[in-house]
Order: sequence, then structure tokens, then C-alpha cells
Amino acid sequence: MSKYTPTATQAWQALTRLAEEETGSLAEHFDDDAHRRDKYSLEFHELYLDFSKNLVSDAALSGLLDLAKEAPLADRIAAMFAGSKINLTENRAVLHTALRRTHAGPLLLDGTDIMPDIHQQLLSMKSLAESIRSGEFRSITGQAFTDVVNIGIGGSDLGPKMVCTALREFTQPGLRCHFLSNVDGAEVATLLEQLAAETTIFIICSKTFTTHETLLNAETAMDWLAASLNINKPQQTNHCIAITAAPETARNYGIADDNILIFWDWVGGRYSLWSAVGLSICISIGAKHFQEFLDGAALMDEHFRSTGFDHNMPVLMAMLGIWYHNFLGAQSTAVIPYCERLEYLPAFLQQLDMESNGKSATLGGTRSTITTGPVLWGQTGTNGQHAFFQLLHQGTRTVPVDFIAAIEESSGSAHQHQVLLMNMIAQSAALMLGDYSPDIHKHYPGNKPSNVLLLQRLDARTLGMLIALYEHKIFVQGVIWDINSYDQWGVELGKRLATDLMADTAVADRDPSTAELIRRTRDEPKP
Ligand code: F6P
Repeated sequence: MSKYTPTATQAWQALTRLAEEETGSLAEHFDDDAHRRDKYSLEFHELYLDFSKNLVSDAALSGLLDLAKEAPLADRIAAMFAGSKINLTENRAVLHTALRRTHAGPLLLDGTDIMPDIHQQLLSMKSLAESIRSGEFRSITGQAFTDVVNIGIGGSDLGPKMVCTALREFTQPGLRCHFLSNVDGAEVATLLEQLAAETTIFIICSKTFTTHETLLNAETAMDWLAASLNINKPQQTNHCIAITAAPETARNYGIADDNILIFWDWVGGRYSLWSAVGLSICISIGAKHFQEFLDGAALMDEHFRSTGFDHNMPVLMAMLGIWYHNFLGAQSTAVIPYCERLEYLPAFLQQLDMESNGKSATLGGTRSTITTGPVLWGQTGTNGQHAFFQLLHQGTRTVPVDFIAAIEESSGSAHQHQVLLMNMIAQSAALMLGDYSPDIHKHYPGNKPSNVLLLQRLDARTLGMLIALYEHKIFVQGVIWDINSYDQWGVELGKRLATDLMADTAVADRDPSTAELIRRTRDEPKP
């Protein structure tokens, strides 16, 4: 039973008062304090965070840090890294950080050191990835694989897809990675049409190995392989790899033992890209870059674990979010990368944040009385400027924005890269400063908050740091809100109902709306 109640802390009460009293605009904060930019920015290796354009005074920021100290945050950070079972509703440890742990020494879970297993699986994954890349791991026709199809959904899709896209400049020429997630048959058919079965390998990626979308897509893919290659059990060949925390189920599916890579129940699906779930990433960018990806995340882990809250990037970003959502009434938060290679980052973060913190039950088993996880949304700039920025500038809601960009261009025109970056900086300034016009339609109120996160360049290491930064930010917010960020019971009911409906021929005992929708989609006659 948790003894901590956020609203009962002194800091929460002080912040409530401050939120009512604070009137200063962002521009005034800068006028009043020549050092604001310095004080409200952090540099960590190749990351630079400018959080000076937040609607926060020194007093509010120090109140937020007081709240972080009054909450059991320090203890929970230590407990997570140590492998305590902080995922209370599933009685599980939360140890995705162990997958990228760089320092030697045992990590005990239920009395057993888990590090040897982690190293073994990482080694197996890297060696499989390298042998696929080199062509040593061959198809049944003796050819090297040219196309890798990851079949998975949610955490078994979004992370690998986002990272492979973000790091596409490091992809081995001649090797293509594809991602099949939706159960939409038209998508599957369109992809399969483009592929040659002789040189295509499928990765069936599912923590549980029971997710029906994934299994159905896998079945279609296996049927296609069987028909195209004229073989019986394609899942038993090199054309099929399984990645799962339920190896027995994959074995029953017929996948060869050597082609099953495992991970563990203490790795949450949305935190699993660091495990064997990252195989498609490792195939795409190679073992060396994959290790850099892990190392980048490990750097952020160490920063998060050992840095005082006032200089701790994930903690500061989290507490600023708490300020907006719990004290200033913001309902959503936008992530806008000015980098087309990060096009899937908002969707990845959407699952990471909303599946982690979209909860209303407290750790103590009561209904939360405060606002928890925000709606997270976004897309790349400059595209977003021509879509939803109107609302950011002149709408009635406050939407805190995270702008993200890489300083160095990777390829393409240096001039275009400058145009991209200047657009982002202009937007963040325009949101803050606004512009007066006597014509209300042309008036920009300004005072709209944003963070700017600059990566020196977008590579495996900086991307690792960036993802770990958001993972920890989300964890901190979960602790402040006194919720369990690591379960996802909310998604179960819909799955159960869909399974029922698929099995069910009698619609009569459904509610009238559901019954009619079923009747229409099954094209059944009216009763
Ligand atoms: O439906 C939600 C969810 O359970 C996610 O948490 C998970 O990432 C996804 O489904 C896929 O699950 P699995 O990897 O077990 O197929």
C-alpha cells in the first residue's frame, strides 16, 4: 500500500498556490533575468536541452523540484535499477535498463544473476544479424536474404520501425527492412507483391506470441512462403525467426529452436526494442551500431540515476510536464521533430507515454483524483506548420511542445538543412513572443511554451540517449502521479471482446448498437 499521496504533499499545495498567483509572461521572465537561458538549459554529451521557454518561474521550478523530492522518486529510481518488482500489478521487475547496462557485476533477480543470460541473448542476436547481413545465413534456395519483414504490433513494431527509419543512412545497401503490423489484409498483400520469397526472411516478433493480429499476419506470410517456395512448413526453415518471451509457444508454432531469440517478462513490450525485439534494427544497422545505440541509452541511464534532480534531464522534463498538466490545465503535449527520419518518433512515444501513464488507479488501489498521462501527439516539422500549428499559435488551448532536431545534416543539401532548423527555431520563438495586432484575427498572443532538444547529429548513440530520456521522463511522471507505468490492463477488454465477436455467430444478445454494426458488416439480413 503506497503511503504517498501527491496532493497531500506540501510541495503540491505550494504549487497550487503558485499556479494561481503567477502572472509573468515568458518574455517578462527573460527581461527579468539575464541568465535565464543559461540557467534553463542543460548539455549532456551530444544533447542540448533548452527549457527556458517554459511558463515557469524560478519559484515554480523550485516548487516542482521540491515535489520530486517529497515524492518517493529517489527510492523508486533506485528500486527500478536494482530490479525490485515495481510493476506491482504483474509482480514483475522493470529492467529494460539491464539490457543496456555497461558496468560489470551481477544484477540479481530472485537471487539469480540475470546478466549472463542478457549477454548471451545479445550475442546470439548480434551474430544472427551479422550472418544475415553477410549472406552466411541463407534461404532454402541457398541465397542471401535481401528483405527482412518484422511482423509485430505495438511495442513489437513501433520501436524497431522508428529506429530503422531514423537510422536508415546506416542501413546496409541491398538490404531492406519492412514492418507489418496492422491486420489489414490489403497492406499485407501490397507488401508481399513486392517481395521475392526466395530472399525474404520473416521475424515474428511478439512478447506473448498470442497477439492475434501478429499471428494472423504471420499465417498469411507463411501461406505465401509455402505457396511461393512450394514447401510445407516454412516456419521450420531459415525464412522464419521468432522473438518472444514465450519460447514454448513459438516452438509449438513450429519454429526451429535455433531460430528463436528470447527476452524476458521483466521487459515491457513498449520498452523492448533494446532486447532481441531489436533484431531488425541490428540487421539493418549492424552489431557495432546497435551496440552504440545501447551505449547511448546507458549513458542516459547513468545520468538519470546519479544526477541531482535540478540538473537531471528526464526529471526536469517530467516535472515541467507535471506543471502543465496538473497545475496549468494543459491536456496534451506535442512532439515535433524537425527531421523526416524521426517521422515515427511521435507514434513510438505515443505508445510509450499513453500506454504507460494512461491510468486512473493509484498504486494503493484507489481512484486517482488528479490528472495523469496527457494525450501525446505530433508529426514532423515543417509539415506540421501547414497543418496544426494554427491551433498552437492562436487556439484556446495551451499545448507544450517538444521540438527536436539534429544540428549536423546527415546527407542532402546543407542549405535545406539550415532552412529546416531555422523554421524550428522561428516557431519556438513565435510561440513564445507572439505578435500584437489590433485586428484580433491577426493577433498572436504568444506565451506558448516549448522545449528545444538539439542532437549534435542523429546517430545510433544519440538516438539511444533520446529514447532513454523519454522512457525516464515517463517513469518520473508515473511516480509523481502514484500510478504503475508498467502494466497495460486497459487494452485487454477490447481484445477480449474482439475475440468474442470473431467467435460469435449469434448477435442477438449484444447491445443494440453492437448487434446492428455486426449485422451490417457481416451483411446479414435484418431480424
Ligand atoms: O495491446 C497492447 C500490447 O500488449 C502492447 O503492450 C504490446 O506492445 C503489444 O500489445 C504487442 O504485444 P506482443 O508483443 O505480446 O505481441
